Amino acid sequence: MKDKQKSEFFCATCGNRQSKWTGQCSQCHEWNTFHEEVRFIEKFEAKKSVHIEKPRPIRIKEVALTQTPRFLTDIHEFDRMIGGGIVPGALTLVGGDPGIGKSTLMLQLSSKIASKGKIVLYVTGEESAQQTTIRARRLGIDEDNLFLLAETNFHHILQQVDAINPEVLIIDSIQVIYKSDIPSSPGSVTQVRETAHEFMQLSKGRSITTFLIGHVTKGGDIAGPKILEHLVDTVLYFEGDKQNNFRMIKVVKNRFGPTDEVAVFQMLNGGLKEVSNPSELFLAERVFDVPGAAVATALEGNRPLLIETQALVSETNFPSPARRSSGIDSNRMALLLAVLEKRIRYPLFRCDVFLTVAGGMKIIEPGLDLALALAVASSFRNKAIDKNTCIAGEVGLSGEVRPIARAESRIKEARQLGFKRCILPKRNVKSISKELREGIELVGVDFVEEAIDAALIN
Ligand code: TYD
Ligand code: MG
Repeated sequence: MKDKQKSEFFCATCGNRQSKWTGQCSQCHEWNTFHEEVRFIEKFEAKKSVHIEKPRPIRIKEVALTQTPRFLTDIHEFDRMIGGGIVPGALTLVGGDPGIGKSTLMLQLSSKIASKGKIVLYVTGEESAQQTTIRARRLGIDEDNLFLLAETNFHHILQQVDAINPEVLIIDSIQVIYKSDIPSSPGSVTQVRETAHEFMQLSKGRSITTFLIGHVTKGGDIAGPKILEHLVDTVLYFEGDKQNNFRMIKVVKNRFGPTDEVAVFQMLNGGLKEVSNPSELFLAERVFDVPGAAVATALEGNRPLLIETQALVSETNFPSPARRSSGIDSNRMALLLAVLEKRIRYPLFRCDVFLTVAGGMKIIEPGLDLALALAVASSFRNKAIDKNTCIAGEVGLSGEVRPIARAESRIKEARQLGFKRCILPKRNVKSISKELREGIELVGVDFVEEAIDAALIN
């Protein structure tokens, strides 16, 4: 029987399916991401190439809970981030911009796992085996148990998986893998979804720990990793800009551990190196006693992070002054500037304002607000903030300073790095234990104005 074909349109960013082309996706609101694909209505099920035993329903109390021990990769930051090591059989999506370091990390991870006696199959669909080997040699990787396969056809990969029976499988990247029985091109929403689904069956059916690498794509030609988030157990995203050598990996979803965890790495000549104390590194390049700089004790996931925020406020004659920010939400910036204008009466409407988080990090956390506001105030008034003072607090619309989460761990981190004074919401101060107050002065504030008075050196 001839397969019935139907043409449909898929959004490459979120996978939304429509029967008609539209300029903007109604789900993710991205523009120009729809692509036509031929979808087979034919019964895929019968053709599934990965065979696993069909499960039967079991009474919930009869389900045997075997505690599968996790295994450690010995890249400590990675192990910690995913909840204490890798769960055997887990399917993990590793997303990030092209060139950010996904392949490098996975290769280093593969080497660590292989050195512990596990068989690792690294499927390199984007680079040849030679190219990957050149990189591996540079990184000093030559493990016996690490196998490379330059292949993009799913069925061929499956044959090799049958042949060498790996415990860990790395697919670099899922966007180049295709199944020949699907009519759309590699990288299309249908191909990416179907092949990822096959790898899910493979990893669950045979308990193969699998990592799927997915490039974050701009424009709509190639489906992005977002469309796979629901399918996998764990989602990790790489962040950081290429000019800067810091890389932050965030856990966006984790069926086996906490989400919101982060790990910081540094891209060096010898590959990615874990940074166990990121605050120290972020503050290393700080210049002291210049107006416009404020150290924030922010939270990244569950981890306290001290980071320098910088503002430059300069008067302009143009009717629409510039507002530029990097590493922070621009809406948040607009709000903070409006609060400073309205409540403190700073005439920022005639000033250009530039606001950044040093180190190329993106931090979206309300606790950063007060530091940003004080950085702007410091630049505007041309007065520096004392170098031993750090700041935490959320700013409300009336200029009030609202309490923040995990104040204790922020203070602990600040104290460890030698800060002598912390400006924070008054309501948080009460809950801080006596031991934590030793060696650091806590300045509780209710309004941004008080915070400015407390922070700026006269
Ligand atoms: P890569 O892992 O290939 O990125 P992705 O797989 O996410 O596309 O990273 C490539 C970049 O990393 C490249 O610009 C060079 C840089 N790099 C180093 O700086 N040091 C190294 O040791 C390696 C292997 C790569
Ligand atoms: Mg790569």
